[in-house]
Amino acid sequence: MSHAAPAFFAGALRRLTVLVLLALPALAPAQEVLNTFEPTAVSLGASRDGVRGENGVVASRSRLASEAGVAIMRQGGNAIDAAVATGFALAVTYPSAGNLGGGGFMVIHLADGTLVTNDHRERAPLAASRDMYLDKEGKVIPGLSRESHLASGVPGTVAGLLDVLERYGRLSREKVMAPAIALAEQGFALNYDLVSQFKRRREIFARHEPTLRMFSHPTGGPYEVGDVFRQPYLAATLKRIAREGKAGFYTGRTADLLVEEMKRGGGIISHEDLLQYESVWRKPLVGTYRDYEVVSMPPPSSGGALLIQMLNMLEPYKVNDMGYGSADAVHLMVEAERRAYADRAEHLGDSDYYDVPLAMLLNKTYARQRMVSFDPSVASRSDDILPGRALAEAVDTTHASVMDKDGNAVAYTTTLNLSYGARYVIPGAGFLMNNEMDDFSVKANEPNAYGLIGRVANEIQPGKRMLSSMTPTILLKDDQAVLVTGSPGGSTIITTVFQVVVNTIDHRMKLRDAVGQPRFHHQWKPERVIYEPFGLSPDTLMMLGLRDHDMRPLPGTWLLGDANSVSRLEDGALLGVSDPRNEGGAAAY
Ligand code: DON
Repeated sequence: MSHAAPAFFAGALRRLTVLVLLALPALAPAQEVLNTFEPTAVSLGASRDGVRGENGVVASRSRLASEAGVAIMRQGGNAIDAAVATGFALAVTYPSAGNLGGGGFMVIHLADGTLVTNDHRERAPLAASRDMYLDKEGKVIPGLSRESHLASGVPGTVAGLLDVLERYGRLSREKVMAPAIALAEQGFALNYDLVSQFKRRREIFARHEPTLRMFSHPTGGPYEVGDVFRQPYLAATLKRIAREGKAGFYTGRTADLLVEEMKRGGGIISHEDLLQYESVWRKPLVGTYRDYEVVSMPPPSSGGALLIQMLNMLEPYKVNDMGYGSADAVHLMVEAERRAYADRAEHLGDSDYYDVPLAMLLNKTYARQRMVSFDPSVASRSDDILPGRALAEAVDTTHASVMDKDGNAVAYTTTLNLSYGARYVIPGAGFLMNNEMDDFSVKANEPNAYGLIGRVANEIQPGKRMLSSMTPTILLKDDQAVLVTGSPGGSTIITTVFQVVVNTIDHRMKLRDAVGQPRFHHQWKPERVIYEPFGLSPDTLMMLGLRDHDMRPLPGTWLLGDANSVSRLEDGALLGVSDPRNEGGAAAY
């Protein structure tokens, strides 16, 4: 009785509050910004193979965000409009990684053959400095680069999405943002996935009252499955952006709220930082693997460079003959990963601030030289694998995939870094801030949250972009986009994409298998291979153990990556697959 009665009243109060909140929009004066969005109840053409359509397809971590993208294509938008609509919707429906307060990368292939990327990675604030996370003795202050206001870089998402839309979209900002605004304003019913995420983090959120409030039911308790999640402050911020463009975020009320919170919480992002922020158009890295072109993200991501380098290392081998999941194939791929990640630690950083030897890293001869020390019968030791040096003959967190019927394709990966970023929202503006500063090498050879180490190439400098592993990638065959993929997962992003590509090209798997098969990961240091439960047979594990690999199964709840992908089938139809590891959804029409 003592428990049941308050629970009953809390439940009744919650239902009443929801009703009142749902009625509010009807009472409010007409909005200037259109905000309608009707998700399709049924995905047409869904089967075990994925979701199939003729005109457009989106796969992302959130079914609602995928449907937002498809709704925009139905209104005459192209894949770029759809990717931007999905990006803004993810900020509403998948708040742990979708964002306004973070950054991301977009790789774009246009039907006319144009290949381009947009880099809207966060930048170090102007007041940042190399040793800002060290104490007087030069030791790293635990948590400072991950869970404080100092952990945040200057957000880039809004600049990037709007720049992409302006240059390559067909529809207006107001139209493309309407689904996100509607989802924030009218709310959406919470699923088990989000409710359990919010519940698990209540203690962390409670460190910052406005954050706890944002992720609590209006009655104060936790949300339950089926409750409607409305985000009025976020809706207001999105409307300012829809009305004013970048100025609606980087200046005016949103900027004032952000800088105010920085001052209150000991952060250093200033009005000047926000004013100076610009997304950067960069040429993608383009490699070849067998009959395909691999188009991926250049620095400040390490993803494209490592992916192409690892594929170059694999190319001389008959991976298909080795057989999927065989000890030989896993051993070869792990050794390619070991060598590529050693190069990452030494050579990769923001190429606007550090001379990244890209030509060397992408060179096929260089890749072969790196594999000279490969022994098919035994694991190398990471301490023996030093970063590569120039050759005499050589001179260099959630993902969405979109395609449309015309052949446009977009790979979009976006993040706050760790789940829910630095775990504080901007009060009154309704969005979470990133903790991307931890992706810098805060001290030489000191592991970051993903165990990655770095040195001078990735040390902190004002305005510099922190090195990323995000690997939005498009595969081209005969100049047509045939696969769009990418993943979250920090350091494991690159090896996730690597495996999706090898599964597709070498093992000729269907998209659902290329994405769904268990994965493994090695990153040079620490010296061990992690693999998903049931990912490798006992016989294979034994054979890898005999070759001296330290094989470590992940605990059941940990999985490698979340590669929501789309592909074009031989008959021209489009197929979307949401990674079975997580709740997510593809939509097509
Ligand atoms: O840019 C990076 O490499 C990381 N900040 C990505 C973070 C991430 O994937 C988190 N998701 N699991």
